Amino acid sequence: MPAKFFKVDANAILTLGRNSIKDHTTAVVELIKNAYDADADLVELNIRALSESASEIRIADNGHGMSDSDIENSWLRIGFSDKVTNKTSSRFTRRKTGEKGIGRLSADRLGSELELRTKSRARPATGVLVDWSKFESAGKEVGSIPLAVPKNLNPTIPGKAHQSRTRTGTELIIKKLRQRWTPDDIEKLHAELSLLLP
Ligand SMILES: Nc1ncnc2c1ncn2[C@@H]1O[C@H](COP(=O)(O)OP(=O)(O)OP(=O)(O)O)[C@@H](O)[C@H]1O
Ligand SMILES: [Mg+2]
Repeated sequence: MPAKFFKVDANAILTLGRNSIKDHTTAVVELIKNAYDADADLVELNIRALSESASEIRIADNGHGMSDSDIENSWLRIGFSDKVTNKTSSRFTRRKTGEKGIGRLSADRLGSELELRTKSRARPATGVLVDWSKFESAGKEVGSIPLAVPKNLNPTIPGKAHQSRTRTGTELIIKKLRQRWTPDDIEKLHAELSLLLP
């Protein structure tokens, strides 16, 4: 008999993320931890949740960024984390906070659309657009859902504008938010973020 193989239903990815990420403040913290692990020393967080249609979360960092092959071989490979073998960051020798390889699913926890733009050293900018609602219908193999590419690949990276040509970093824009953000949520997020840095 020929060997048998698992396939992965796209929906399972959403279930995995939604069940392992407690709430929407934790989800933002997860994404900021990724910036920390990428040696960012600046992270910009904008939460605009005035009306449903104009709601948006933007998280931009000046970390190492990702190349196209990083996206292909690590960001798009759910459950994979190179942090299992590379436990400390290269620039600030930080002990990395991630290792499970699912933190990126926090984007789905927050909103149904993700635009990721990123630039790493000596590599062209790259990115990916994810419409998580396409993962919801039953019986779809995860690898069969094509992902689009943002029109503008250049991330807006926090920091001094005159260094922008040499800078690296990542910008995530999450749209169609799933939750309202109350002043209490922002307060809770602030408290959780203060615990992140010694
Ligand atoms: N802001 C970022 N800058 C650079 N690389 C990033 C960024 N966000 C994600 N990545 C890359 O994508 C991978 C996936 O992130 P994800 O949070 O899913 O996994 P992880 O951080 O390795 O583990 P965990 O699930 O425990 O957070 C990371 O390992 C990293 O290689
Ligand atoms: Mg992570």
